[in-house]
Amino acid sequence: AGLATPALAQANFPNRPISMVIPFAAGGPTDTVGRLIAQAMGADLGQPVVVENSGGAGGTIGAQRVASARPDGYTILLHHIGMATIPTLYRRLAYDPVNGFEPIGMVTEVPMTLIARRNIEATNLSELVALIRQRGEGLNYANAGIGAASHLCGLLLMKAVDTRMTTVPYRGTGPAMNDLVSGTVDLMCDQTTNTTEQIRAGTVRAFAVTTPERIAALPDLPTSAQGGLPGFEVSVWHGLYAPRGTPAAIVARLNQALVKALQDPAVASRFADLGTAPVPIARATPEVHRAFWQADIAKWRPLIQAAGQFAD
Ligand code: MLT
Repeated sequence: AGLATPALAQANFPNRPISMVIPFAAGGPTDTVGRLIAQAMGADLGQPVVVENSGGAGGTIGAQRVASARPDGYTILLHHIGMATIPTLYRRLAYDPVNGFEPIGMVTEVPMTLIARRNIEATNLSELVALIRQRGEGLNYANAGIGAASHLCGLLLMKAVDTRMTTVPYRGTGPAMNDLVSGTVDLMCDQTTNTTEQIRAGTVRAFAVTTPERIAALPDLPTSAQGGLPGFEVSVWHGLYAPRGTPAAIVARLNQALVKALQDPAVASRFADLGTAPVPIARATPEVHRAFWQADIAKWRPLIQAAGQFAD
């Protein structure tokens, strides 16, 4: 200990388990994606990749934990579109949300679905829009905090119907889903990786998928545009990050393991069951990831500013 040179540490990487921080609760969509790729990456790296859920505050607590970890490749972060909205949504953070990380590669892009407790007083999207306009803040919209994908989707929905609902924040949409199934909350917009199985089982009612086209996993579900809300569209992209200053050789090794995971047929087939797919391998590079992330920050900034919902 203490004698290894940085070059030697890189050549031996990894020689102990790696922590993959998931910035949301266990049992939710980020956790689902993370556990799948962690297992496949661990097989390629010859060391376990251990998932650690560090949820809360819209994904900023887990992100902060990785931004302040040693930049040695042993602590990495799986995060989503929140990496592009948090720099605008939060005025103050204890970490640098843009320069605190080295992108490793993109992972997947996931459609969202607008769902409600199964006994909601609406059977299609136009009836749901009418109900939202009639009840407004009398309806409870569950999300995973400011910076969550479910938060962003809620902002877009409330803007599209020009009505506010009461938001109920959770540490992740895994626990929020339990409350939606039991009817404690009314509505949620969440990733298909968390909703497909509940929709198929009929434990929640689905109103729309937020993509331009219908998806193969839920062929009967109309798009938001088909349901009468054109422009209510969002997909959630996920990427893998190391702390700023992690040596390029280690980032490259982690990227290689990520690419292997994305090419694993078992990973692709589970993703397909859940209404998503691995990104094309050309997009799973640190360079493409960085460029996409930066462009997405610029894309969402004016929309979030126009919606006017910020955290302190
Ligand atoms: C989660 O894993 O709980 C979700 O990604 C939360 C969200 O962003 O809506």
